[in-house]
This record gives sequence, C-alpha cells and structure tokens, in this order.
Amino acid sequence: MAGTKLTVNNNGSIRVEGDFELCDQDGDVVPMPGVARVSLCRCGHSANKPFCDGAHKGAGFSSVITAATVNAPRPKPAS
Ligand code: FES
Repeated sequence: MAGTKLTVNNNGSIRVEGDFELCDQDGDVVPMPGVARVSLCRCGHSANKPFCDGAHKGAGFSSVITAATVNAPRPKPAS
C-alpha cells in the first residue's frame, strides 16, 4: 500500500510513515527535513509532544488496539 501508514502501537505511540506532513492547528507545516517516519504520543505524558519520547512506559499507559475492535468515530455535525 502506497501513501501514508499509521500504526497504533499497543500501550504506546502512533507510528506514522510514508508520505505525510505534520501541521499545527493553524495548518503550518512542522519542518522535518529528511524525516520519513515519526511516532506520535497518544498517552499525553511525552515532554516532546506531539512526539513520543518513551514516557508512556513509565506512566503505565495501557491501550491495546486490534483492527477488529476499532470503531471509527462519527463525524461531528456541522455547526
Ligand atoms: S505514547 Fe509514548 S510518550 Fe506518549
């Protein structure tokens, strides 16, 4: 599969690899020259958000995801 691949790691980060841009809330691109993959924090404990710094291990973050159990969120109604 070409494009972008996101992998939700059990008890840890979301790995992003492939062709992607990381932007802030205003849409400004975070410069990451030469970076082909990143791990994004989903535990909230990283000191280097939005990137994972491994703090999830010490924090005891627990979240096991399998493809069979993922339910896509419903889109928010337009306001
Ligand atoms: S997921 Fe690794 S520090 Fe949060």
